[in-house]
Amino acid sequence: MYWEKELETLPEKELRQLQVNRLNITLAHARRSPFYGELFGRNGNHPESVNDVKGIESLPFTVKQQLRDHFPYGFLTLPQKEIIRLHSSSGTTGNPTVIFHNRHDIDSWANLMARSLFCAGVRDTDVFQNIVGYGLFTGGLGFQYGIEKLGALSIPAGAGNSLRQIKLMRDYGTTAIHAIPSYLTRLYDVFREEHLNPQKDTRLRLLCIGAEPHTEEQRQRIQEMFGVKAYNSFGLSEMNGPGVAFECEYQNGLHIWEDAFLVEIVNPDTLQPVPDGEFGELVMTTLDRQANPLIRYRTRDITRIIPGACPCGRTHRRIDRITGRTDDMFILKGCNIFPMQIEGVLMKIPEVGTDYRITLETVSDQDTMVIDVEIKKDCFRGDLAFLDKLQKRLTHLIRDEVLVTPVIRLVEPGSLPKAEGKAVRVYDTRKR
Ligand code: COA
Ligand code: AMP
Ligand code: ZN
Repeated sequence: MYWEKELETLPEKELRQLQVNRLNITLAHARRSPFYGELFGRNGNHPESVNDVKGIESLPFTVKQQLRDHFPYGFLTLPQKEIIRLHSSSGTTGNPTVIFHNRHDIDSWANLMARSLFCAGVRDTDVFQNIVGYGLFTGGLGFQYGIEKLGALSIPAGAGNSLRQIKLMRDYGTTAIHAIPSYLTRLYDVFREEHLNPQKDTRLRLLCIGAEPHTEEQRQRIQEMFGVKAYNSFGLSEMNGPGVAFECEYQNGLHIWEDAFLVEIVNPDTLQPVPDGEFGELVMTTLDRQANPLIRYRTRDITRIIPGACPCGRTHRRIDRITGRTDDMFILKGCNIFPMQIEGVLMKIPEVGTDYRITLETVSDQDTMVIDVEIKKDCFRGDLAFLDKLQKRLTHLIRDEVLVTPVIRLVEPGSLPKAEGKAVRVYDTRKR
């Protein structure tokens, strides 16, 4: 059963030809943006069109820093009048990354999301509760439009308030949920605290999990807790958001929608392609986006192409679960965080010393971020009210920057253990 049978089962040769056609259209769109117009115009070596998918390798990569440097409109190909939505990253320091969509882009994304949900087994008879952040997070509206396109009943619950989530599930007979995996273990705990059992006291029949790395063991635990299958959903805001790659009923890797994205896996050091089956960095080119196309975007996510065909009959290749990143970004409670964001906040505060340490840990099945911050010696004068105020101020400033409330511990100068060689700032001890 497919959402779009012909497209999803397109024979390999035809799929590649479709990609080439769409890539050439995308290149023409891209040249209209100030960034690519300049980049491709400046260097005559960049072809205006390609004859096959390998032709992409003659084009330069695009990286996150370029999105930031050309903020806000440098990648935009259309007049603002034609743009209907933007999604951007969090943060109050530095330039965020922003992606703009015209109506075509939103429709295309909604269709990819509907296709993804259908692929995992969601149907128009389902009641779908979307338990992730709305607003600028792409998981909220991204899933929302997909659920509506598919025709299921959507509950745009948003993140937080577990008791209310459970009430919504029970009141409306929720059959499907989208949430990040670490939150589902928290939700399960709240079920148990309420003396409820999700397997008996709800009508759940499937889960979609994603937006953060997780292991197969973690998936198994979640499936055992809720007594239903949990399908891996992958996406990133630069490639719309969710709806990039999704698992089918076989749960054997994620079909990446190749009519909408051109996929490369490269060695992150040499930037040369690696053979199918080998891990490397995922590089993606949009093939069906008009307002804000991206060419050879380095996602920084590490995965591989899983060789071979999937028994479901879909011809779009499968990627493996994400095993890590080639930069230092980490994800906590579904929020992307760069250590530099935290350093940026801390270093603006005159009382803060030179060293700090971030520890990510799981306490009673809830992920937390503890930040030990060295404070200058003269701040430790026994004035507890002063330290309390400083601690609260740092908590608020960091929460505003990364959208997660940290636990701040003020420590004396020199008290943090020194790492040998390059300073290690992040210790991740979370249960996965
Ligand atoms: N999804 C849903 N709910 C979450 C969550 C998540 N990723 N992370 C935490 N929560 C819940 C907590 O369980 C708590 O509710 P409860 O006490 O009723 O169980 C509530 O949100 C507040 O969490 P807390 O950890 O105390 O607050 P915080 O200030 O550190 O985090 C959030 C605030 C959760 C609102 C913020 O991290 C957020 O918006 N996360 C969602 C991001 C997201 O959805 N990303 C995916 C996009 S695809
Ligand atoms: P955002 O741009 O905020 O949507 O975050 C995108 C990033 O979240 C990706 O680049 C990945 O690092 C991570 N991510 C999204 N989905 C998954 C998933 N299913 N498994 C692992 N990591 C994921
Ligand atoms: Zn399949």
